[in-house]
Amino acid sequence: MVSMDKLVSLAKRRGFIFPSSEIYGGLNGCWDYGPLGVELKRNVKDAWWEDMVSRHDNTMPPAGAPAAFDMVGLDCSILMNPRVWEASGHVGGFSDPMVDCRETKNRFRADQLTVFGVLTDADDDSRIMDVEPLFAVPGESEAATEAEVAAAHGKRFRRVIRNLRGYRLVALPGALDNEKLRGRTYAPGASEPGTLTPPRTFNLMFETHVGAMRDASSVAYLRPETAQGIFVNFKAVCDTSRVRVPFGIGQIGKAFRNEINPRNFTFRSREFEQMEIEFFCAAEQAGDWYRYWRDRRFQWYVDLGLDRARLRLREHHSDELAHYAAACADVEYEFPFGTSELEGIANRTDFDLRQHMDASGKDLRYFDVHQPDPERRRFLPHVIEPSAGADRAALAFLCDAYDEDRVGGETRTVLRLDPRLAPIKAAVFPLIRKGGMPERALALYRALRTKLNAVYDEKGAIGRRYRRQDEAGTPFCITVDGETLEDDTVTVRERDTCEQVRIPIPEVVSYISDRTAA
Ligand code: GAP
Repeated sequence: MVSMDKLVSLAKRRGFIFPSSEIYGGLNGCWDYGPLGVELKRNVKDAWWEDMVSRHDNTMPPAGAPAAFDMVGLDCSILMNPRVWEASGHVGGFSDPMVDCRETKNRFRADQLTVFGVLTDADDDSRIMDVEPLFAVPGESEAATEAEVAAAHGKRFRRVIRNLRGYRLVALPGALDNEKLRGRTYAPGASEPGTLTPPRTFNLMFETHVGAMRDASSVAYLRPETAQGIFVNFKAVCDTSRVRVPFGIGQIGKAFRNEINPRNFTFRSREFEQMEIEFFCAAEQAGDWYRYWRDRRFQWYVDLGLDRARLRLREHHSDELAHYAAACADVEYEFPFGTSELEGIANRTDFDLRQHMDASGKDLRYFDVHQPDPERRRFLPHVIEPSAGADRAALAFLCDAYDEDRVGGETRTVLRLDPRLAPIKAAVFPLIRKGGMPERALALYRALRTKLNAVYDEKGAIGRRYRRQDEAGTPFCITVDGETLEDDTVTVRERDTCEQVRIPIPEVVSYISDRTAA
């Protein structure tokens, strides 16, 4: 798999992703999508919107679904009445534990810093509690390698293990909450132990003020998720459209979280985009709908080309679930920095609608005119929530697509993106810049451009032009050559195989359109 260094370098060199406001030194956790990146991310969002919302057929059940259902969309404001975030639990509980190193000034999420001690094979675990120095290592895993501890602590760690014949690294969960253990812990890069502060909770919501007054009454939040906009509009959607439970509402939009430690390129950013569905159903059917959405969302990534072997569906254990959740699964992808969450699918019961009903005083129960039993006509639907990130998905598609192979005796870099996601669908080249070839190529380029994103390139050797497009992930390169002038055909070269076919010019637009659309 590609290393993150290579991927970040390609992303910058080819204009996929740049650090935000880079000429001023950037802003940690914020990223800008360049000309190719904006097309890729837009294609990811379009594929999601089309597959989940706009092309959904509500007249029959999709494969694997318990019944036919409606899907509609929303686009809510980013700023909302702050009471939304009180009712949802974000004001009180949307926080991470944070620790600071007083010496290095680094800040960590306490749950992403694991403390390890060294035990010889002869020691029992009590020894570690007494005297040994302890080492804090970035990461959530309770199994660290010697190299990982050494990377964070260098010589100091090597001095401890130098004379040991055999030893094991033992994780001490909760050590940062214990004053004595914290006092013996070296923070990454610190020269003495005991420099970490006790964990403090840190609310991840960005606060701002609405209107001219900057006081407590004008506080508002940049939304940390798009989901709540859907819940607070549930009644408006039911009252104004002809949806009937079960149905889903989809939304794509920006979300903001003041992450303590943004990292791994765009994977954990402070500003990002979510693609969320809230699916409303009867309580008795929630289990079936949960399984349907979990499996369907997993398959979506496979259908768009992610390597199945690098994808995992991880069902949460009951002790990992939020108090209101009946089930939750993560779609995980094996990124170059480790296997991490791409999307979460949760059965949230009726928690969110109930919270907003209680806090707003508005009756959010659904009225089912088709229910013969008057007692059961009004009910609060349960909710299945598939919640994905557009930036994380785009990053996974980029990592998965990156490849290096040998063509014509040279190494080439190629992005094997699904044609639906490829930023540019076709590139048109005249073989040489004379003999009427540029004119024919330009005419073809203009015809393609009315239907899809095509580029025209006449600069450099033809091989160099192919390589440029391979790196951008362009699935087709079309060349106008001497034969074109005689028989009105062009060569169409396919990115992955480099195979070429000759096609009559009048057929090129439909040939490319058919192969790059869903
Ligand atoms: N409404 C539920 C919710 O927001 P979440 O697991 O916090 O759940 C859902 O977020 C998805 O949003 C994640 O699976 C991820 O794809 C994306 N996401 C969350 N935080 C992110 C961040 N800091 N940077 C980039 N994407 C993020």
